[in-house]
Amino acid sequence: MSELVRVEKLHKSFGRLEVLKGIDLTVNAGETVVLLGSSGSGKSTLLRCINFMETPTKGRVYLNGEAVGTEVGGKMRYKETDLCKLRTRIGMVFQHFNLFPHMTVLQNVMEGQITVLGRGSDEAKEKSMVQLERVGLAEKAEEFPSRLSGGQKQRVAIARALAMDPEVMLFDEVTSALDPELVGEVLKTMRQLADEGMTMICVTHELGFAYHVAHRVLFLNEGAIHEEGEPQKLLKNPQTQRMREFLDGHALFKLPE
Ligand SMILES: Nc1ncnc2c1ncn2[C@@H]1O[C@H](COP(=O)(O)OP(=O)(O)OP(=O)(O)O)[C@@H](O)[C@H]1O
Ligand SMILES: [Mg+2]
Repeated sequence: MSELVRVEKLHKSFGRLEVLKGIDLTVNAGETVVLLGSSGSGKSTLLRCINFMETPTKGRVYLNGEAVGTEVGGKMRYKETDLCKLRTRIGMVFQHFNLFPHMTVLQNVMEGQITVLGRGSDEAKEKSMVQLERVGLAEKAEEFPSRLSGGQKQRVAIARALAMDPEVMLFDEVTSALDPELVGEVLKTMRQLADEGMTMICVTHELGFAYHVAHRVLFLNEGAIHEEGEPQKLLKNPQTQRMREFLDGHALFKLPE
């Protein structure tokens, strides 16, 4: 299996607060990794360092075997133009979908392809329809976001990220803001992507998804990887007290229909 994302001894501090304390993580092509951890453990910060929405304080990130940035006198330097290019290779979906309300679903999915990738509108439209089809929303292409349910909006946000042809997708609690009955359709879309071989790093509290879909689960605690392993083993039989306590507060491993 070829490695797609590698994080090496990654540290991130905000002022005097050290949020990530030396993370090592390799994600192979086609792998789905779930990050678990309580609030404030550094899950979002880790995703944001992988796509350089935050600059790591120390350590390296490699995408497809290539280090991001260049080392100058023992310190990593990052050029904004390189980071912009990098971000186009990494799709990210957030808890809040941030669709443009004045644009149709189709225009929302086309926008980044045109402004960031410089695609022509015919190509962008074609790619958008392929991805809207993939998330089951082709028939909503001409609707405005206000006419969609939260679950549908989130699937549009996923289609928008996919339309950029990313090498890896990062999901940060994408179902947390949804009504419970809408969570299932978004997880189903994510499961389908995983089955199709998309490389994904997902922060989620949906243990059913972690159990049934992830290839690997990492439990982050106070900025470090506290435990990791195969979901069926780790979730049923955590080795540390800290992870047992975390899991005790969570619901069953059932995947919503
Ligand atoms: N831009 C920032 N400036 C200062 N502190 C920050 C910043 N971003 C995050 N932090 C702090 O870093 C710590 C980890 O935050 P992070 O958002 O990564 O946690 P998380 O595991 O994603 O939590 P949650 O489950 O609540 O989303 C928190 O203490 C947070 O307050
Ligand atoms: Mg978070």
